[in-house]
Amino acid sequence: MKVEKIRQEDRGKVDAFIVRQWFSMQMAVHGELIDMGTADGWYATDGNEIIGLITYRIVNDEMEILSLDSVHKKRGVGTVLLNETIDKAKDCRCKRIKVITTNDNLNALRFYQKHGFELVKIHRNAVDVARKLKPSIPLIGNDGIPLKHEIELEYSLRTI
Ligand SMILES: CC(C)(COP(=O)(O)OP(=O)(O)OC[C@H]1O[C@@H](n2cnc3c(N)ncnc32)[C@H](O)[C@@H]1OP(=O)(O)O)[C@@H](O)C(=O)NCCC(=O)NCCS
Repeated sequence: MKVEKIRQEDRGKVDAFIVRQWFSMQMAVHGELIDMGTADGWYATDGNEIIGLITYRIVNDEMEILSLDSVHKKRGVGTVLLNETIDKAKDCRCKRIKVITTNDNLNALRFYQKHGFELVKIHRNAVDVARKLKPSIPLIGNDGIPLKHEIELEYSLRTI
């Protein structure tokens, strides 16, 4: 596996990967439509195939992970990409890394918590709001769970 930072010349293949995973270049989160085509991040490849992608943005001293996708799960791809991002946040002297996932994403909730993230907020019914911006968001999510709420996790980088 090779991990590379997204460069301008990689955008075509990275954007194609995003559309394959998300069926759209736009992500609706906390009432905002985010254009994933401008997001920074890293992608992992196996030969010529992209097997994982993480994207983020930094606003003031806060990093927000916008997306994390792994094609071949449970082989360490997600961890490698997440660690690149944590290192970047430390280099940029961010105070925290925030990530939002949905109430049905038990896999992500386990993954992030095992990597040092803590649950900080539940944005109740936020997916219902996001669905108004992006009607393709399904009503029922993973494992048949009604898809309704956004859950915010954070990785604190504050030094006391
Ligand atoms: C969440 C997600 C990114 C994790 O990616 P991943 O590549 O499977 O992550 P890793 O392989 O690093 O770790 C996942 C698990 O595999 C285990 N694992 C890693 N390498 C392994 C190996 N060689 N053999 C066995 N298990 C392994 C890890 O210990 C970890 O266990 P855990 O789930 O109990 O913590 C992935 O499930 C995904 O793409 N989900 C869909 C999109 C999504 O929900 N994204 C997050 C919301 S932003």
